[in-house]
Amino acid sequence: MVPELEKVTVLMKNPEHVQRVISALRKEGTDKLQVISDFDMTLSRFGFNGRRCPTSHNILDNSRVISEEGRKKLQDLLHYYYPIEIDPNQTMEEKCPLMVEWWTKAHNLLLEQKILKSDIAKIVRDSEVMLRDGANTFFDQLHQHNIPLFIFSAGVGDVLEEVLRQAEVFHPNINVVANYMDFDDKGVLRRFKEPLIHTYNKNNTVLEKTEHFQLLSSRTNIILLGDSLGDLSMADGVPNVENVLTVGFLNDKVDERRGKYRDAYDIVLEKDETLDVVNGILCYIL
Ligand code: C5P
Ligand code: MG
Repeated sequence: MVPELEKVTVLMKNPEHVQRVISALRKEGTDKLQVISDFDMTLSRFGFNGRRCPTSHNILDNSRVISEEGRKKLQDLLHYYYPIEIDPNQTMEEKCPLMVEWWTKAHNLLLEQKILKSDIAKIVRDSEVMLRDGANTFFDQLHQHNIPLFIFSAGVGDVLEEVLRQAEVFHPNINVVANYMDFDDKGVLRRFKEPLIHTYNKNNTVLEKTEHFQLLSSRTNIILLGDSLGDLSMADGVPNVENVLTVGFLNDKVDERRGKYRDAYDIVLEKDETLDVVNGILCYIL
């Protein structure tokens, strides 16, 4: 049905369930489908040529507009909190307050740097960010078939939108909820808009003020893409869900986290920097 599911990077706890859901998605057609995706390390690459690629936050952290001292402090935060974010031995409840701490401290450091709105495009252009291989096919297929793509990110909205714009894939079927910057009259960053979104509160609690899912109430079939176990709650606000297919990218600490990912996601893609499997599924069902 979907030859890409034979790739060596694919892990499935229950292949029959996956086949059943894919068949249902195909049978029920494009009018009922929506795609909900994380951004950083899901639509963007985790690594390239043995080097880590930046998240939307890292694009700012590593840029020339940040002072050397600021960059060092942001790096120290990353080295302290990132291992907590991906630690398979701590619960989401334990991690939540620490993630709020990380995001708050990082945003405060970024605020000190007087970042200009007009600098964002150049910051992104000069960065090492890359979308996953096959991203163009992915975005173009969804656009051509009028399938809504909801990008739900704990990253920086202004930055990730610019990444999509520069890749020429920011089509009108895309809606983004993320941490957006707020600039003053002179175009200087003055704060981040509320509510703060971090890895483990990507759910209804931060979507309360948006009508996004209500406007898509006929879209009861979902493909959900993520790279964190926190991404699995992104579709919680969708009313009357019928069929959900979850695809999880397992990028880092693969051996330690394989079991949990296999239990949680329908399809796990282990160290797979491409959107091949997702594109193969879309090609079959569209
Ligand atoms: O788009 P997504 O929800 O994946 O964005 C969040 C990611 O950004 C987290 O997985 C985290 O590792 C990363 N992050 C970062 N720097 C911060 C805060 C989060 O790189 N200051
Ligand atoms: Mg992510």
